Order: sequence, then C-alpha cells, then structure tokens
Amino acid sequence: VLQLTLAVIKPDAVAHPLILETLHQKILENNFIVVRKKDLWWRRKDSESFYAEHSGRFFYQRLVEFMSRQVCGPMRAYILAREDAVAHWRELMGPTKVYRARYTAPNSVRALYGLTDTRNTTHGSDSAESAKREIAFFFPEFSVQQWLDKE
Ligand code: CMP
Repeated sequence: VLQLTLAVIKPDAVAHPLILETLHQKILENNFIVVRKKDLWWRRKDSESFYAEHSGRFFYQRLVEFMSRQVCGPMRAYILAREDAVAHWRELMGPTKVYRARYTAPNSVRALYGLTDTRNTTHGSDSAESAKREIAFFFPEFSVQQWLDKE
C-alpha cells in the first residue's frame, strides 16, 4: 500500500556535496517519489522538540546540539512516497548505530557514510504514525491525508 515517510539527511552528510548527491540518487534508484524536499536549519528549540522522546538519554544533549549547530550547514528533509515507504527507507538507512550497521548491513547508508552514532547520516520515521507527526513538523502546510486521498 502506498505510504509516505519523512526522511532527513543530517547536516554532516549535506555538508559533503558528493554524499548528498549520492543519497539523493539512492532515493530515486529505490523507487521513492520525492513529494516534497526542503533544506533548512533548526533552532535549538526545534531540535529539542523533535527529539523530545529521547530527552534524558545520555546522547540527548549531543544530538540536540549537533542537529542545530549553525556552523554545520543545513539539513535536508524529504517527504517520500512508495509502497511501504517507512520500512524501505529504514532498510536503506540501516541500523542507528554505525558500528552495528557496518557489521550487519555493510551496504546501508549509515554503514557507508555514518561517522558516529550521533552523526549517523540520516533519519527516518519509524512508523506511519510518526511519519504523520514528523511530516507535520517539517512541512506544516502539507496534509498527508489529502495527498493519499488524491493518489
Ligand atoms: P535518528 O534516527 O535521528 O533518531 C534518534 C537519534 O539519536 C539517532 O538517529 C541518533 O542520531 C541518535 N542516537 C541514538 N542512539 C544513540 C547513541 N547510542 N549514541 C548517540 N546518539 C544516538
């Protein structure tokens, strides 16, 4: 069934033109439709609120900091569509932790381009419900329901 997901290319990867281009091509090669695409910077408060579910974890501060560091450059957010978009994008990314990605999914995006568990190249929604919430966070003017109804 046709589904939408939110995909983010994190600032470390956007900063490298070759990696950014490679990731964009990977999206297209894997039969995702690019529904929306936006380059943007976060304020600290955006970062804190997007990752609120992780507040209290040992990596929260460094994650929040990294995603809203102005010197690092923008991140890129996509709304992607395809069948089972959520699962397919997560498979393409590989596991969150880069060392685990390198062991278990050596061709995944995080294995190939991830630097650390925080600078792990990309983010993707973990369910259809989170996709809806995360799409609204990045693209407040976009209605998931309306888009799916039209297709
Ligand atoms: P992301 O998919 O953006 O969702 C939450 C983020 O928290 C995750 O990717 C990582 O960037 C970060 N993260 C998760 N686990 C760890 C960890 N053990 N150490 C550092 N950062 C982590």
